Amino acid sequence: MALAEFLAELDDLLTGAKTAFDKAPDEAALESARIEFLGAKSGRLKSVQKSLGSIDKSDKPAAGKHFNEVKQAIEAAFDAAVGRLAGRRGESDAPGEFDLTLPGRRPRLGHLHPITQTIEDLKEIMGRLGFSVAEGPEIEDEWHNFEALNIPREHPARDPLENFYLATAGAAAGTSKDDRPLLLRSQTSTVQIRVMERTKPPVRIISLGRVYRPDPADATHYPMFHQIEGLLVDQHVTMADLKSVLRLFAMSYFGGEVHIRFRPSFFPFTEPSVEVDMQWHDRWIEMGGAGMVDPNVLRAVGYDPEQVTGFAFGLGVERVCARRHQVTDIREFYKNDVRFLEQF
Ligand code: PHE
Repeated sequence: MALAEFLAELDDLLTGAKTAFDKAPDEAALESARIEFLGAKSGRLKSVQKSLGSIDKSDKPAAGKHFNEVKQAIEAAFDAAVGRLAGRRGESDAPGEFDLTLPGRRPRLGHLHPITQTIEDLKEIMGRLGFSVAEGPEIEDEWHNFEALNIPREHPARDPLENFYLATAGAAAGTSKDDRPLLLRSQTSTVQIRVMERTKPPVRIISLGRVYRPDPADATHYPMFHQIEGLLVDQHVTMADLKSVLRLFAMSYFGGEVHIRFRPSFFPFTEPSVEVDMQWHDRWIEMGGAGMVDPNVLRAVGYDPEQVTGFAFGLGVERVCARRHQVTDIREFYKNDVRFLEQF
């Protein structure tokens, strides 16, 4: 390409860009003009830059110099247009035009998510019953999520399809530094083990947090949800204590009379095991599982099952919250729709 032709093309481009930027009526129009002229991939300035390669070697310095001048001028014109539009936005606030009688702009205050509120309530209630709060990690190893909880290797609950095992890039799927598989915990019962491993009995704790299961979401299931785990280990703890604690807890949370029903069930880490139903305002609802801590679990953490017994329970936080507030679909909790959330 001849030098003169290249220079003329640049000048045309500058005129075109200036006009487009100056005329842009709003930010959206300015942005599309910016993309047309200054776009990094296929802007018009970019394509002129490409023809720089076909200029005679002796003309290159002059061509390059003019290219840089035009580029700077186009960028300056763009900045000026940004300033012009920003100035217009502030115009109504200019002195003299400010209308003191207009209502102010009220800042929108948020509040705690209903599930967080429920967690706080449950901690408070269980705290009054003498339970302190323990925490555990959401990424767990198989010892705490299964083995110590008396869930042997061949148990269906350990099926990879029933759990979120972690795959680490490149390395063998879901292994920690020392090659142990890792997974997102599927239950807060992991925290029972973590607490008993580091404490001597008596133990009286609750633990609240997220758990993960690859369940399809529906009105009562979600692949991530929250549990409240309770554990009490001491001398002479019985199933009657379990029922009393759950009943006191439910009556404080729901307010008014609540009945507790135990249905026989099975969990590897409790014996006997039960499903816990609660009746409030004439409706029974399944809240979770519970039972007497299995002697194998006590042994796994170095406790003597001849000396101590214990009860444990695990309830769904979404379930208790939904029941109390008459929410019929737990997916609502995670849609982040303020029209739903602001009701709590
Ligand atoms: N971990 C059980 C579950 O997630 C609930 C449970 C907790 C049952 C403690 C018994 C004792 O279903």
